[in-house]
Amino acid sequence: MNISMLGSGFIGRFYAEAIQGKRSKDSITVIYSRKEESARTFAADYGCTTWTTNMEQAIADPSVDIVCIALPNHLHEEAVMLCCKHKKAVMTTKPLGRNAVEAKRMLDAVEAAGIFNGYLEDLVYSPKFLRANESIRNGALGSILWAKSREAHPGPHSDWFWNIEMAGGGCMLDLGCHCVEITRSYIGKDIRPVEVMCWAATQVKPIEAEDHAIALIKYETGAIAQFEVSWAFRGGLDLRDEVMGTEGTIWLNDSLRTGLEMFTTGKAGDYVAEKAESNSGWLFPVGDEVNDLGYNHMFADMFIAFEKGTAPKETFYDGYVVNAILDACYRSAKSKLWEPVQLEDWRGKTGVAQISGLVSYDEDNYLIKEETTHYGATKLILKNKQTGAIKEFVK
Ligand SMILES: NC(=O)c1ccc[n+]([C@@H]2O[C@H](COP(=O)([O-])OP(=O)(O)OC[C@H]3O[C@@H](n4cnc5c(N)ncnc54)[C@H](O)[C@@H]3O)[C@@H](O)[C@H]2O)c1
Repeated sequence: MNISMLGSGFIGRFYAEAIQGKRSKDSITVIYSRKEESARTFAADYGCTTWTTNMEQAIADPSVDIVCIALPNHLHEEAVMLCCKHKKAVMTTKPLGRNAVEAKRMLDAVEAAGIFNGYLEDLVYSPKFLRANESIRNGALGSILWAKSREAHPGPHSDWFWNIEMAGGGCMLDLGCHCVEITRSYIGKDIRPVEVMCWAATQVKPIEAEDHAIALIKYETGAIAQFEVSWAFRGGLDLRDEVMGTEGTIWLNDSLRTGLEMFTTGKAGDYVAEKAESNSGWLFPVGDEVNDLGYNHMFADMFIAFEKGTAPKETFYDGYVVNAILDACYRSAKSKLWEPVQLEDWRGKTGVAQISGLVSYDEDNYLIKEETTHYGATKLILKNKQTGAIKEFVK
């Protein structure tokens, strides 16, 4: 694959490491950056044949198979529309839009142009997520009741993130978009998100946007997703999921407590991990950051789908659903009420049944609980199907 990378900053370089890492046969042939110096440096670092400060030229270049948008949020739509104009396959980093209206325009445009479209949400491709979600899809957790995702760090690395016009929101859009897609994937992407309740506040930073938020997202099955996000968390990058089902539980850490812990006096001044606040004392490096945060698996899925002429796991449609859920969160944070998720284009299931916890113990009773106590008794708590009476029995 010949890739045109738009943006030579933080995520453009993470993507470049994933795309060209190891013995990859894919290469970034064209780099677009706003500043000539950044474009030249990126081209030298990654062996790009062409660098340019003209976005349209980078997209229209005839050598390019697919365009990768790694630009600030306010530039996603302009770049996507140029890909449509030149009929170029496109992948866009998260969030797709600054809001659902912008995201829907991009979705409609790529579908009308008939071009490949991929939504670059790396955290639903992390090896741990992939393993967890495979078990969930195989039924290991039964029916999913609750899925929580937390992303918290000390704040982003570039000025535009802190500008509400350019970014479109604060930590809720920037980090919440990951959490929404993670929890949505655990619950089932074909299950409709119905309504949300959200708290968001600017607790610490001198900005217009929120630097903290917590939200609940109710799905049609009755399952609840929950996210917590912060741009003022101290201690590094905290990325955690918890999933609870009728048959099991999953706890997952993609960063910090990954099982790799290291103490150093810091004399080497080494890089530790994204958003690590220190490089001395007890540290929590991520084993192989590019792989473990999902970038390798994400691009493999994108490129294999492109070659097969199929859709990748994450498309612009997913980006649109995420934006629609987050729009509802912003409305709820203002109204302090449950707000409906407004999806004018829903492609999943409709009219699904609510999760039911009813387990028949025998003809007459439902089972509420069975437990073997520390003194060796096995207790049964049953509910009579006819009378509703709840009684315990010792087996
Ligand atoms: N894990 C992830 O998926 C992840 C992580 C970080 C950022 N992102 C997303 O990637 C995108 C870029 O973020 P980043 O962290 O790389 O930002 P960044 O500031 O590090 O880099 C942005 C790039 O765009 C260029 N740029 C900035 N303003 C521009 C302008 N006005 N016109 C033209 N070019 C401009 C910069 O020169 C730079 O090359 C954002 O949409 C962000 O949400 C995704």
